[in-house]
Amino acid sequence: MNEYKLFLNIRFLVGARDQDPVKITGTAMKDGGIIENAWLYIEGDKVVSYGSMADLDSAKKGFKASFEVTDLAGRSVLPGWCDSHTHIVFPKWREGEFVDRIHGLTYVEIAERGGGILNSAKKMQHASEDDLLKGAVTRINEIIKMGTVAVEIKSGYGLSYESELKMLRVIKRLKAWSPIPVRSTFLGAHAIPLEYKEDRKSYVDIIVNKMIPDIAEQGLADYNDVFCDKGFFTVEETDRILEAGNKFGLRPKIHANELATSGGIQVGVKHNALSVDHLEFTGEEEIAVLKASSTMPTILPSTAFFLKLHYAPARKMIDAGLPVALATDYNPGSSPSGNMSFVLSLSCIHMGMDPEETINAATINGAYAMDLNKELGSITPGKKASFIVTNVIPSVSYIPYAFGKSHIESVYVNGIKQ
Ligand code: NIG
Ligand code: FE
Repeated sequence: MNEYKLFLNIRFLVGARDQDPVKITGTAMKDGGIIENAWLYIEGDKVVSYGSMADLDSAKKGFKASFEVTDLAGRSVLPGWCDSHTHIVFPKWREGEFVDRIHGLTYVEIAERGGGILNSAKKMQHASEDDLLKGAVTRINEIIKMGTVAVEIKSGYGLSYESELKMLRVIKRLKAWSPIPVRSTFLGAHAIPLEYKEDRKSYVDIIVNKMIPDIAEQGLADYNDVFCDKGFFTVEETDRILEAGNKFGLRPKIHANELATSGGIQVGVKHNALSVDHLEFTGEEEIAVLKASSTMPTILPSTAFFLKLHYAPARKMIDAGLPVALATDYNPGSSPSGNMSFVLSLSCIHMGMDPEETINAATINGAYAMDLNKELGSITPGKKASFIVTNVIPSVSYIPYAFGKSHIESVYVNGIKQ
């Protein structure tokens, strides 16, 4: 197989950026970096160059003597999705709770009865690492087909020392197996286990004094997460857990302000979080705090859709000059879907985001929220050749517009067609 590949007749080459942007912010998010009628040249797993078909003959002088040619015949190319927030290691789906919600219970009511996250945690105790791995492998293969080329995965269905470390070991095995980069996040503080309901402090003590040091020592996580929200973990508890994580080099990436104005954004920023995620309850004060930080506000609209929450104020945030990342939150309780294209549609329809803004949010800004922006998130010389080839589409806006169907013809990961 030739190391050098030339892709011809690309109708829209999206996210094409010569400079390597760290992230894209505010008004700049409207520019999807689109070149019409383009070519793309890659070597092995890396992008080498791209340009307009009109200039191909002169550009060819710089190419190797032999290269493989793929005529994309009017299909389009986008950087692959960077899904920076998922929970795809889990023991069982929870469609029973979906039916309970249809019949009138709320997500919080289900959680208070020991359902929800605690339901997954109960099953996690008896799940074998091999079975957990098998389920997650299926889901990674599934999301690659839907165009995802990097994914973050959280623990958080363990809620005990043994089960949390078991989940993280599974994620470590996924990292070794996965064709796409996997980031691992420790989420011991996802819910208070039932047996600690009257003694929350003891559970937080275990997280701070035992789980975090051992996880860091065993290299089992990249990041540290807390579900800082009404009914889950308080700002004070979050403060302790994030401080402990930072001491061990686990940068925060936290759940904040999904169910209430929880103070989660402020405490995340205080501890230099890489991202704060959900953000359905975000006001002026939170926007001001985020503006003065390097934290990526990350929005998960399929959760708002599935739980019928109100959507995060993405429009307001971008207009205020913030960057925004989009992710799926793929999990069995609040977002049983890893479909990033659907996330784009929801973001346009329910949050007033422009199609090109959603693409930047789902690619380069998602990459930033996983510290992967140097290798993924845009079509940039030197970055990984991990991209989506779409079907023939009339415009880039057609992708979020024609929701619910796949626009993907094929996906390349590190220069290899999947
Ligand atoms: O991101 N918000 C907290 N945690 C997950 C839900 C997990 C679950 O219900 O299983 C979320 O939505
Ligand atoms: Fe989540």
